[in-house]
Amino acid sequence: MSLVELDGVHKRFGNLEVLSDVNLSVEEGEIVAIIGRSGSGKSTMLRCINGLEPVQQGRITVDGTEVTTAKADLNDLRQRVGMVFQSYNLFPHLSVERNVTLALKVVRKTPLAEARDIARETIAKVGLADKLNAYPDELSGGQQQRVAIARSLAMGPKVMLFDEITSALDPELVGEVLRVLEALAADGMTMLLVTHEMKFAKTVGNRVVFMHHGRVHEAGDARETLEQPRTPELTSFLNAVLH
Ligand SMILES: Nc1ncnc2c1ncn2[C@@H]1O[C@H](COP(=O)(O)OP(=O)(O)O)[C@@H](O)[C@H]1O
Ligand SMILES: [Mg+2]
Repeated sequence: MSLVELDGVHKRFGNLEVLSDVNLSVEEGEIVAIIGRSGSGKSTMLRCINGLEPVQQGRITVDGTEVTTAKADLNDLRQRVGMVFQSYNLFPHLSVERNVTLALKVVRKTPLAEARDIARETIAKVGLADKLNAYPDELSGGQQQRVAIARSLAMGPKVMLFDEITSALDPELVGEVLRVLEALAADGMTMLLVTHEMKFAKTVGNRVVFMHHGRVHEAGDARETLEQPRTPELTSFLNAVLH
């Protein structure tokens, strides 16, 4: 069984169908770049996978557990599925280390000494070992986003969801965040990432999924799909973002 599976998923907000019959299987270790115009349903898809949004039809499973059932243990799910957003939402009054240990202590009931070991390890992984005691407002946007990634990684997720995590950053800070993602990819982390960084999608992604009007309009091998789109919609999207 695939690590993440969406099977005939429909999601509506009132009368607005935002996801229409979405089918997607993500294997362990796969890196899937999700692209598409604003409003095409990319964020909603990630939020459904993480159990933040209920669906009206279809089934989503993560690591063999169904998300789309009233019985789903969402607390448990969110430890297995990490999610990082465009806005990093760090606690401003807590140091980098405490931002990372907090969820471990509260959600996982990890003893403090162990939580600190895990925090130090994940903070080092995102290249911020020297910033353990810094506060968010002492960090650049790129560094704050790396702390948000560390916080998520500390929970030991099986899959990471990234929603346009470099979109709010100044251009010169994008690279340091993408390098963290590359390192995670090299570690074998399974990732679904919504991104406008087409070059990154092509080099690091195994697969590209193009969302259009709430559907997976085109999907395939990352390089092939981005270099030789088959549908006019993807062709015109790529022309718009690349020029
Ligand atoms: N909570 C919500 N209530 C109503 N409509 C929503 C809500 N969230 C998203 N939408 C709508 O769903 C559609 C898809 O949104 P979204 O998934 O955010 O797209 P994307 O991430 O591709 O830009 C949009 O039309 C958006 O306005
Ligand atoms: Mg979005």
